[in-house]
Amino acid sequence: MPIVEMTRAAAHAADSKAAVANAPESSSETADFYAEVMAGLTLPVKTLPCKYFYDERGSQLFDEICELDEYYPTRTEASIMERHAKEMAALLGPDCRLVEYGSGSSTKTRILLDSAPDLAAYVPVDISRVHLHKTAEGLRRRYPQLEILPVCADYTTPFALPEPARSASRTVAYFPGSTIGNFHPRQAQFFLAQIAALCGEGGGLLIGVDLKKDPDVLHAAYNDARGVTAAFNLNVLDRINQELRGEFDLDSFAHHAFYNEELGRIEMHLVSRKDQTVGICEGAVTFSAGETIHTECSYKYSREDFASLAESAGFQVSRFWTDPSKLFSVQYLTVAPVKE
Ligand code: AVJ
Repeated sequence: MPIVEMTRAAAHAADSKAAVANAPESSSETADFYAEVMAGLTLPVKTLPCKYFYDERGSQLFDEICELDEYYPTRTEASIMERHAKEMAALLGPDCRLVEYGSGSSTKTRILLDSAPDLAAYVPVDISRVHLHKTAEGLRRRYPQLEILPVCADYTTPFALPEPARSASRTVAYFPGSTIGNFHPRQAQFFLAQIAALCGEGGGLLIGVDLKKDPDVLHAAYNDARGVTAAFNLNVLDRINQELRGEFDLDSFAHHAFYNEELGRIEMHLVSRKDQTVGICEGAVTFSAGETIHTECSYKYSREDFASLAESAGFQVSRFWTDPSKLFSVQYLTVAPVKE
């Protein structure tokens, strides 16, 4: 069955009264979660969407990952932001509407906002309403002069941009954290093109992009000695247990992360340690020993790779900043003038 039909079938199953009535919570979010889990686990290569890592426990584990010695991206990106904040703020210019994609706790944003006091507005976009409003409140206290216009939305789908009280000279998107690495290249191209359309002529995108490097460094970053990344990966099974009455035995799955050199990406998997059948709500999924669930891709780009991706999406790279070891990059893309 093609994936679209399969997803529809699963969505239909979860929508039918029986499935919803038997689901632990009858919210549509739980039904969506169930549909996507079953759609992913019935594919020939079992997959789970990485967005489901981030429940409360998962977000906490991710914060812990960011503090690990082996996990270089967070601190490296922050150091690049700190070193070049003035120049970045100057590129935004006065009266800019700054739109942050997946604002989370906006830690890196503060580095930018501290240097850009004359923004027209800051627009954090996040799917988590709780996170969004907490962050907005914190920023309102810290920047009382700044207009903050939170938007609760899934930023991968089109959403309306709020108009600041003070009219904006341009719109610039901010997408830190190398979250772009979670998209397959063609998805990334489409997503960046949507950002270009939203920002329009004169607009830009400030984006954090993790770089290709020694595979040993990458391997260590996703296989930390304390096992925090393993716990983060396994937590998605625990979430299925909690929210979908799943029956995963976490000890029967192993964290497996490696750099796929050919495809330029880290892959995270959960490997079944034995032949087993696992019940999930009304469904069941069978695993053979050694079979994996592919839980995440994290693409790494060379400077050239990313420039051509950006160009294919209607941007041109106008600034490229990196750290002395060239581990990570922050790039400023501008919307390319439309070709006649
Ligand atoms: C948040 C997607 C950038 O790919 O490095 C960290 C997530 N996964 N450790 C990344 C993650 C495992 C992270 N991103």
